[in-house]
Amino acid sequence: MALNATLLLLNATMRAVVWSGIPFNVTVQNVPVPTIQAATDARVRITAAAICGTDMHTYHGTYGSDSAPWIMGHEAVGIIESIGSAVQNIQVGDHVVIPDSFDLGELNMALAEPWANDGAAPGLGLDYGEFYGCQAEYIVVPFADHSLWHIPSNGAVNTSREIDYLFTSDIFATGWSGVSYSGFVPGDSVAIFGAGPVGLLAAHSAIIRGASRVYVVDHVEQRLELAESFGAIPINFNGTNGTAVEQIMRLEPDGVTRSVDCVGYEAVNKINERQSNLIIMDMVAVTSSRGGISSVGVYTHNGATAGTPLGNTTTPNVEFPIVNFFEKGLTYRAGPVDVKLNAPQLTHLIETGVANPALIVSSFIDIEQAPEYYRRFSDHLETKIVIRFP
Ligand SMILES: *[C@@H]1O[C@H](CO)[C@@H](O)[C@H](O)[C@H]1NC(C)=O
Ligand SMILES: *[C@@H]1O[C@H](CO)[C@@H](O)[C@H](O)[C@H]1NC(C)=O
Ligand SMILES: *[C@@H]1O[C@H](CO)[C@@H](O)[C@H](O)[C@H]1NC(C)=O
Ligand SMILES: *[C@@H]1O[C@H](CO)[C@@H](O)[C@H](O)[C@H]1NC(C)=O
Ligand SMILES: *[C@@H]1O[C@H](CO)[C@@H](O)[C@H](O)[C@H]1NC(C)=O
Repeated sequence: MALNATLLLLNATMRAVVWSGIPFNVTVQNVPVPTIQAATDARVRITAAAICGTDMHTYHGTYGSDSAPWIMGHEAVGIIESIGSAVQNIQVGDHVVIPDSFDLGELNMALAEPWANDGAAPGLGLDYGEFYGCQAEYIVVPFADHSLWHIPSNGAVNTSREIDYLFTSDIFATGWSGVSYSGFVPGDSVAIFGAGPVGLLAAHSAIIRGASRVYVVDHVEQRLELAESFGAIPINFNGTNGTAVEQIMRLEPDGVTRSVDCVGYEAVNKINERQSNLIIMDMVAVTSSRGGISSVGVYTHNGATAGTPLGNTTTPNVEFPIVNFFEKGLTYRAGPVDVKLNAPQLTHLIETGVANPALIVSSFIDIEQAPEYYRRFSDHLETKIVIRFP
């Protein structure tokens, strides 16, 4: 059965979302179905793939590899369609999560390298590994035994909750880790900056981890209503009610104990201008003494390249309120998240019904609709988009 499927696919093509280096433009194209190259590879038939905020950084021309094109996407679930001869823990027919970073196949001793422990990242072009991407019908995953994890099943594939598990591939793990990076312990009050997918799932994480109060700051009313629907306190910084800092301090005169930045360098102020230090300033202002702040929203500076044509519109430095930060004795942890480290806990929380990250999905689409829905996500008309494959 599996062998027949493999033979049929030789020289076949598949549909994939492709970035060609044109800002605000992705296309759906026929590309070759990837083939297994190494004995440790597995090929996965993708059943669902998500569009991530990181894909927006690419779409806006500022993040990714120096050369284009590449296949987009780094969050998916699917079914193993074929495996290399050395794969042991994964079998044909298994239902798996494909995460935003793959195992390197070796212990990486290059501690000075950014992302040293994260391995290759799919969906960001050649500089991040290979020509992989998850917004496609198939993907070949290297070191499959160590790169993929199983969606729980009682012997048969059950797709009824696969979208919850899909988000362990990046955004749920990233939101969860943002809360951890802030030094969170149960009972803390938390301000989450950004009600995009990561911010919403950071709020969900803080709530299920026992936060006393969770504020979510944004300027998109529909996203704030969603945050409120699962227990967060919405703070719209673009109303007539004052700045985010003023509103939080009115409700929380001593400040919150933790703040989490789920936006990064694309933060905008009230007049919709990019202001990359806005959230760092606000976090230091609203966080109480001996508290903690963190950033999991991306900060990046690529330079203008074929793959990142507007990469020189970002800044490598942002102004930091060091005096206030020092006097309060705050901690600050920032950086990319190795999602594999959280996979066991998050899988259990979903399996037991404690976590329900799929609650943030606004649209399920066919891959042919991806260009339109990239645009809608960029315009904040969608909260989270999932591409389903038949
Ligand atoms: C996107 O780019 C392709 C060429 O790669 C072009 O055919 C298409 O019209 C562009 N779409 C938009 C919306 O600009
Ligand atoms: C699939 O999983 C859901 C919830 O996880 C459960 O309610 C349902 O009975 C399962 N279906 C099958 C066919 O096992
Ligand atoms: C304005 O902010 C206060 C607290 O600062 C809050 O209680 C109130 O609900 C807010 N009103 C609106 C319309 O957001
Ligand atoms: C704030 O509201 C004004 C008026 O509706 C609008 O022009 C502006 O773009 C909004 N800013 C943001 C960040 O949404
Ligand atoms: C970015 O690079 C492009 C092409 O090299 C150049 O035209 C543009 O002026 C640069 N923009 C900035 C903000 O440096």
